Amino acid sequence: MKTRYIYIATFGCQMNVHDSEQMAALLEEEGYRLTQDSARADVILFNTCSIRDKAEQKAFSELGRLVKLKEKNPGLLVGFGGCLAQHLGEGVYKREKAVDFVFGTHHISRLPEILAAVTNGKKRAVETCFFSEIQSLGVFAPPAPGELSAFVSIMQGCDNYCSYCVVPYLRGPEMSRPPEEILEEIRKLACCGVKEVTLLGQNVNSYGKNLAGGCNFVSLLKSIEAIQGLERIRFTTSHPKDLSDDLIDCFRSLSKLCEHIHLPVQSGSNRVLKRMNRGYSVGEYCAKVERLRTVCPSISITSDVIVGFPGETAKDYQETVDMMEKIRFDSLFSFKYSERKGTAARTFNDPVPEAEKQRRLKELQALQDRHTQEKNSALEGSVQEVLVEGPSKNSDSDMTGRTRAWRIVNFKGGRELAGKKVKVEITRGFLHSLRGRMINR
Ligand code: SAH
Ligand code: SF4
Ligand code: F3S
Repeated sequence: MKTRYIYIATFGCQMNVHDSEQMAALLEEEGYRLTQDSARADVILFNTCSIRDKAEQKAFSELGRLVKLKEKNPGLLVGFGGCLAQHLGEGVYKREKAVDFVFGTHHISRLPEILAAVTNGKKRAVETCFFSEIQSLGVFAPPAPGELSAFVSIMQGCDNYCSYCVVPYLRGPEMSRPPEEILEEIRKLACCGVKEVTLLGQNVNSYGKNLAGGCNFVSLLKSIEAIQGLERIRFTTSHPKDLSDDLIDCFRSLSKLCEHIHLPVQSGSNRVLKRMNRGYSVGEYCAKVERLRTVCPSISITSDVIVGFPGETAKDYQETVDMMEKIRFDSLFSFKYSERKGTAARTFNDPVPEAEKQRRLKELQALQDRHTQEKNSALEGSVQEVLVEGPSKNSDSDMTGRTRAWRIVNFKGGRELAGKKVKVEITRGFLHSLRGRMINR
């Protein structure tokens, strides 16, 4: 039989990237071959995001471009999946007639079945219902040769309903994967040479809530720590309200757990946090940051902030600036509030004008750049453990890797270092990376 090629376009967060990896593994098992060349594809899958309006626009502009390939290849099948597909359902066909099928976030494991039906003539399928159990993929997604790092999904969905956010509507209620399944997957990854795993979920620190047997995130981390061959553990994302003292203590007690936490704060104003339905105050957030830094002084703390939430006054915004000055994040993603259909915040009055949102965003980004630069400069002279990923993009004689705190380090070294952990003395801290000198193996 002729080889069928599949091309996957991914638009979303790390969870979406991981979903695309799973789609690829599943369809390769079915005999498809993955291609990076869309013109060669027999099937094109879109794995989309709907978190902000911009993400939607990006997916549709790429869809408009890629469906043109049907002119030359009428047999090409185009599947529209992921969070935006979940959001729009049938509405996808109104936006783009050339789509052949729509599949939502709970239907990845059903892709072979859906594709078979579409190939056999089923027209305009819309597969967007939610299931009440996690649909197991049933196949192991092996890492690419030489890949050191892998994502591992530990849960899906979200029950938090932050008032601005569409995720609970697009990914369904929170469900945790059984620990045995997760541990088995990580053992297999470690056997394939993976040294670092990033555990994924919208709110990993509430892992286990719906599981029998009393497993929680801390006990899961402890079991992962014991897996031979694995060297580094990371996780994302943590919700501040569910960050327990027990979990904070893991940064001291678990040697494989890397010194980095992404802890989205969203705002420095208690009034805004309340309207966002975040479930913590600025004071409580700051107390957790302080405890993290006491338990683990070298920990890197990164965060997300939204500017221009409906009704955010100049005073609320200033409180966010003040909080940033107080905490000094190692890095920060800041976003302009984007109104999402179906969310509670959509009914709030008092929108912040676009120009003002833009001004606040620019100002926060400049402030964060200053903090990031100061943090990186302060590392000059220190010695960091670097897991070497491979040759640097910018120079043939340089290798690149990451510190335990997730900073990129470039240094002189040979290709034989790829996959090794080395000690590097930092000679220069830039805004987006560090420069260093290897001191031993
Ligand atoms: N589950 C994660 C984040 C998921 S979305 C958490 O709770 O932290 C990633 C980030 O996108 C959020 O932290 C938030 O800062 C931002 N975001 C979500 N909805 C948004 C919206 N409607 N407008 C602007 N930014 C948004
Ligand atoms: Fe969205 Fe809040 Fe859930 Fe994060 S915790 S995914 S921001 S609802
Ligand atoms: Fe991720 Fe976007 Fe969905 S951020 S969970 S792909 S809406």
